[in-house]
Amino acid sequence: MMQKPIRVGIAGCGNAAVFHYASFQRVTGIPVEVVGVTSLQKSRREEFAVRRGIRAFDSLADLLSEVDVVDNCTPGYAHEPVSIAAFEAGKHVIVEKPFTGYYGPPGNDGFAGNRFPKETMLAEALSSSRRVIAAALKSRRKLCYAENWIYAPAVQKEAEILAKSKGQILWAIGGQSHSGSPSPAYGVWRLSGGGSVVGKSCHPLSTLLYLKQIEGATLYGKPIRPCTVSARTHEITRAPAFVSKGFLRTDYTDIEDYCQIHLTFEDGMVADIFASEIVMGGVHNWLDIFANNHRARCNLSPSNAMELYNPREDQVDDVYLMEKLGTKQGWSNPAPDEYSTFGYPQEIQDFMEAITADRQPKSGMRLAGDTVAALYAAYVSAERKGQEVEVPLDPTLG
Ligand SMILES: NC(=O)c1ccc[n+]([C@@H]2O[C@H](COP(=O)([O-])OP(=O)(O)OC[C@H]3O[C@@H](n4cnc5c(N)ncnc54)[C@H](O)[C@@H]3O)[C@@H](O)[C@H]2O)c1
Repeated sequence: MMQKPIRVGIAGCGNAAVFHYASFQRVTGIPVEVVGVTSLQKSRREEFAVRRGIRAFDSLADLLSEVDVVDNCTPGYAHEPVSIAAFEAGKHVIVEKPFTGYYGPPGNDGFAGNRFPKETMLAEALSSSRRVIAAALKSRRKLCYAENWIYAPAVQKEAEILAKSKGQILWAIGGQSHSGSPSPAYGVWRLSGGGSVVGKSCHPLSTLLYLKQIEGATLYGKPIRPCTVSARTHEITRAPAFVSKGFLRTDYTDIEDYCQIHLTFEDGMVADIFASEIVMGGVHNWLDIFANNHRARCNLSPSNAMELYNPREDQVDDVYLMEKLGTKQGWSNPAPDEYSTFGYPQEIQDFMEAITADRQPKSGMRLAGDTVAALYAAYVSAERKGQEVEVPLDPTLG
């Protein structure tokens, strides 16, 4: 008998919805149907739907009655309400990064995230995270945390090497940086929940948490979780002496555009993470692992799978080369299949398999919860100019 397709509805029709939709088209072995999309702006969601031959729903409630899975591609501030509504309706949820966070007190009271007390933010972000996780557990549906780096082939290969060689990560260093998000919601704390810390450092951070989970499961039969963070944040494009030459996005209101985070783990080992909005030349996604038995460099972007010299910009006007490249003239490293290098289709494949097989996805609620705790503890540390702060882990996720 033919298996019934998993029916998916997407919430949000921005950049993330575009690569999620494309990834659903690449799922193999499991029938999947993207039924439709909902978003705040009628004209935008209808354009998205018509282009893909799917339905545009006027509300989340209308979409919920037609699907098995809600793919939450809304900005961070909507992750909790959209996810909880979906769980309460008995749907599985895929939720983009950041899992959830703190978006200011109710009402429009001149909230500025960069000046708001960070201990309150941490407590509120943890409560939000626990509410979503509790809703998932109560509904007995899957919470799939869309941290695509976990599924990047380079990261999966390192996970395999780590597990099969029984390695121990002593130190890791990595980062994500580029010249600024295209999302209009990014840059306003109320909508995004923060800047480089929650928007960018989350990728290498979750990936390290994942690798330490694997290392712990292999060596000790339980994950090695994060212990403390020491962090600094800066607002470089708003510094009085900063001079804009027009190449970097600079219209942030109350978020940081640079961060560094030093992390210690339960086993005493360490990691350093950098993230920023001030880097040209394409998105820079990288992770270096220093283990007791190997070294690995995961170059998600740029990768040197291809090198191109293009003497005249307009020759490749309609050829996509790589995310946020800036200029197509001269030497570049085009990404031949960027979605795959970043792990987007593999992530959606794992989520569909997890739902079908009733198992946990590789990137699930523990990773989501631990990431929120570490990111907002980093803000507390940054407020104290880098003082070490404990990561308040949820023991029920252990
Ligand atoms: N993993 C990655 O590489 C990656 C890349 C880009 C974005 N993201 C994440 O994906 C999410 C969306 O980012 P984006 O760049 O697509 O944002 P965007 O601002 O371009 O689009 C957001 C969409 O959500 C809709 N929306 C907002 N509130 C809603 C609500 N309550 N109900 C339904 N729809 C609502 C908006 O109308 C819009 O269509 C963010 O959390 C972002 O961090 C992840």
